[in-house]
Amino acid sequence: MAKILVVGSMNMDIVTQVERHPVPGETIQGNETRFFIGGKGANQAVAASRSGASVAMAGALGSDSFGIDIRRELAEARIDLDHVIEKPCMTGLALITIDGAGENNIILSSGANGRYGADEVDQLDLSGFDVILLQNEISSAANQRVLDKAAEQRIPVFMNPAPIDGFDQSQLSKVTFLILNEVEAEELSGIRIEGSSQALEAGKKLLNDGIPHLIITLGSKGSIYMDQAGRQITYPAFSVDVVDTTAAGDTFIGAFAAKYVTGAELPDCLRYATAASALAVSEPGAQSSIPADDQVQSFLTAGNNRTIRLL
Ligand code: RIB
Repeated sequence: MAKILVVGSMNMDIVTQVERHPVPGETIQGNETRFFIGGKGANQAVAASRSGASVAMAGALGSDSFGIDIRRELAEARIDLDHVIEKPCMTGLALITIDGAGENNIILSSGANGRYGADEVDQLDLSGFDVILLQNEISSAANQRVLDKAAEQRIPVFMNPAPIDGFDQSQLSKVTFLILNEVEAEELSGIRIEGSSQALEAGKKLLNDGIPHLIITLGSKGSIYMDQAGRQITYPAFSVDVVDTTAAGDTFIGAFAAKYVTGAELPDCLRYATAASALAVSEPGAQSSIPADDQVQSFLTAGNNRTIRLL
């Protein structure tokens, strides 16, 4: 079976429900606060594993009880944790508010994720992995070293430049597959995206900059795949009741990668990933909301079919 390595973040998400997000200087009443296992790297690893892939995680946890909780949950999700190290500091934290429409605001405190650097990547043996997934929640130096080592060993890297704040654009030159949302695509292309036509324009600009393959996810408007061979595929979103959008993008990426490594056709990978992220937004939390393969398959066979457009 093809193997996926996720090099990235693991966080404890502290999530409070609010009717609306506060404005600067304002104090508001929250409803309920819950703790969920999260972090973009770990979420993508869980999504890929629940979608049927063989997955290993590399990154750093802190020496606190959150680190123990996260390790236990990722092991339960059948993720190989041999490359997860411990740092003498706190585990990464995400302070999240979810409003009445299911939209989130996230404040990150990087903790051990920020201390995972190039030296740690030097200890990592990439051989034996077929695809590597990266995000922007560990140090930029670590990501750069992964990209360099992967390029030497010709291992494709899927990059999710999230959060886009502080993302080093020079890293794009070694990326095989860029998967990003409309906000990130706007930032990297300089093109304001209001709908799929501007998203296509932004995608063309990124392809012209040398990205081999890319997907722009557009929330309720679906997603667009584009590549250097001129292929363009658009896929609409499923309509579901949104409870919490946290980890929707991570679920899409992990699920997409899991199907892609099996050699599945691109439209089928997009269809599967879109269904997985629709299920993820229907439930609260990050990893708690990521569906298993059988749930995605049932959702798709229950008549939730969409027409793919090859442009
Ligand atoms: O993408 C969602 C994730 O972003 C959350 O789980 C949180 O930990 C932040 O990293």
